[in-house]
Amino acid sequence: MISQKKQERYERLFKQLEQLLQNSPHSISRMATALAVLHHKMPVFSWTGFYFIRNNQLEVGPYQGHVACQILPYDKGVCWAAIQQNKTLIVPDVRQFPGHIACDSRSKSEIVVPVFLSVNKAKPVGVLDVDSHIINAFDETDAIWLEKITQLIFSDIELV
Ligand code: SME
Repeated sequence: MISQKKQERYERLFKQLEQLLQNSPHSISRMATALAVLHHKMPVFSWTGFYFIRNNQLEVGPYQGHVACQILPYDKGVCWAAIQQNKTLIVPDVRQFPGHIACDSRSKSEIVVPVFLSVNKAKPVGVLDVDSHIINAFDETDAIWLEKITQLIFSDIELV
């Protein structure tokens, strides 16, 4: 998608989410609703979901797309790299990322955004992970908006 079109799509989608999430007080409903909107409105997203840190591993949370890896072992793959580096990672070609975990062999590129709760903005509790069957599907526009969306989902709530 060309950058201007993508930007406008995220702007519309964000306004819709702000409205919808006013009626979603809990983390599960907020995640589920945001994923439904994102996954169905962004044509290149093939898997869209959350992983959360529990017992030193990443456990899958709500998601849209094909059945995913349930557990990501400590310190392996893109999701753990985003947590360790404490920043959004864009992987244009997953084959070039050492240790990438392929839950779906068709995945070609990926973006991972760390998730923070309001109580501790320094340490991520998990990630928002988006895969695409298209190579080089994600850019800085996705990073900016997916960060804004995770902040919107998790502002002033607890994980339930
Ligand atoms: N590719 C991820 C694993 C999760 S799936 O993409 C849904 C990783 O390397 O951490």
